[in-house]
Amino acid sequence: MPNGESFYITTPIYYPSDVPHIGHGYTTVAVDTLARWHRQAGDDTWMLTGTDEHGQKMIRAAAANGATPQEWVDRLVADSWHPVLKTLNIANDDFIRTTQPRHEERVRAFVQAIYDRGYIYAGEYEALYCVGCEEFKPESEIVDGTGPFEGLKVCAIHSKPLELLQEKNYFFKLSEFQDRLLELYRDRPDFVQPESARNEVVSFVSQGLKDLSISRSTFDWGITVPWDESHVIYVWIDALLNYATAVGYGSDPEQFERRWPAVHVVGKDILRFHAVIWPAMLMAAGLEVPRRVFAHGWLLVGGEKMSKSKLTGIAPSEITDVFGSDAYRFYFLSAIAFGQDGSFSWEDLSARYQAELANGFGNLASRTVAMIERYFEGIVPPAGQFTERDLEIQKIIADAAAGADAAIERFAIQDAIAQIWTVVDALNGYITENEPWALAKDDSQRERLGTVLYTCADGLRALAVLLSPVMPVATEKLWIALGAAESLGRLQQQPIREAGGWGLLRPGTSVNGLAPLFPRVETTN
Ligand code: MSP
Repeated sequence: MPNGESFYITTPIYYPSDVPHIGHGYTTVAVDTLARWHRQAGDDTWMLTGTDEHGQKMIRAAAANGATPQEWVDRLVADSWHPVLKTLNIANDDFIRTTQPRHEERVRAFVQAIYDRGYIYAGEYEALYCVGCEEFKPESEIVDGTGPFEGLKVCAIHSKPLELLQEKNYFFKLSEFQDRLLELYRDRPDFVQPESARNEVVSFVSQGLKDLSISRSTFDWGITVPWDESHVIYVWIDALLNYATAVGYGSDPEQFERRWPAVHVVGKDILRFHAVIWPAMLMAAGLEVPRRVFAHGWLLVGGEKMSKSKLTGIAPSEITDVFGSDAYRFYFLSAIAFGQDGSFSWEDLSARYQAELANGFGNLASRTVAMIERYFEGIVPPAGQFTERDLEIQKIIADAAAGADAAIERFAIQDAIAQIWTVVDALNGYITENEPWALAKDDSQRERLGTVLYTCADGLRALAVLLSPVMPVATEKLWIALGAAESLGRLQQQPIREAGGWGLLRPGTSVNGLAPLFPRVETTN
């Protein structure tokens, strides 16, 4: 068991009413990268993802496709949601489906527990509901419809008509938690991040909270309320609980104790559920609130949130088929500041692939390995006397490693990559300045040539370790090409917080030919 502290991180659980698009993939690769970083730092890491399978959205999607809800979710999960994890090279530790018995039983136990503690009551309700969001919408998120929906009230996110629902429901006393939530945001300023998300949540809760309808009786696709079988539990209550049920809430206290509390990464569209309702539910049950809720921005297409329902969805495989999973991960994580919106474009992806991956990192790796092959018969040379400039490179590597780790602590993945890239740029500049091909022509410069190439090779060793959470495939190839797998062991077991140390690559090991890490791609887009 790793001896570091517990790091339990989650993605939202996705609606398998439809196939995944690059917006879903964005959240998942970000969480996977953070998890891989912590795993490689020796933290006791656990990454959870999964699917949110109940609710009206699913009933409608299934009906539209002539299937039962269970058939529909089984098909989509098997054909699309499990495979997309492979497509994106995700190393999740678990995948929870809300239709699994392990989840359903524990959700009933949780809801019963807060009922027994007096936080649930029966009442009447009438309000406008958005099936896309699976949420009764507050006034501020209701707008007038346009085009075919002229004259109707529509959801500000989905631009689809809202439905007036009137029911007898069970309610959760959310309003009782206003003060405790405000205290939480005040006492733990990093509970909700980034700052803009925190401000939004504080201002929302400061305006007062209404009790929340947590059951539905007009359909039965859901988990039944334990004390009233004519109701099913509201899909969001069911869904949020996945984070607890998946790590043993109500069934495996030891596992729960080891993992909980979690770090949740979510899109900003579902921030309030995670930063307001979820901690209140946990408080009601007497459980610890999450460690952190981080809201990232939206991928925009044509200035709007990309989505399948608006027909702007792009499948992750459209990108990975051409550029590979590493480039997908690198592009979204380096081009968009985590926490802010970003626009996707094929031109930008192509340009960054060429400049940063193929010409920057890929070329540095290829020419270093090729020069060690050519000038030292494929054996990593020892370094001789260091010059000022060599020492400067060593410092750039140490600073980049420390800076990247600090950036990851802040969830600033783009900053971590930018820090690491200072090494790529510095080494490319260093090769140009030192002209190893000229040194190779002069026998008296043999030791200097060794120092220069060792410096590049050890820099690449650090880059392979630091970039492996972002680009597991290319860095593994590089690791093998440097001969490091034999002398230092598996890449993913290299302690990432020590990657900035100097001279860890052993001279005398053999390098192995390296095919281009990021081959040229022909794009028609
Ligand atoms: N099922 C709920 C979440 C329950 S969590 C207890 C849900 N599912 S979803 O499939 O609609 O979206 C889940 C997440 O996908 C969003 O929070 C966000 O992280 C991601 N994204 C979906 N579309 C996106 C973009 N266009 N851009 C960025 N992320 C997007 O909500």
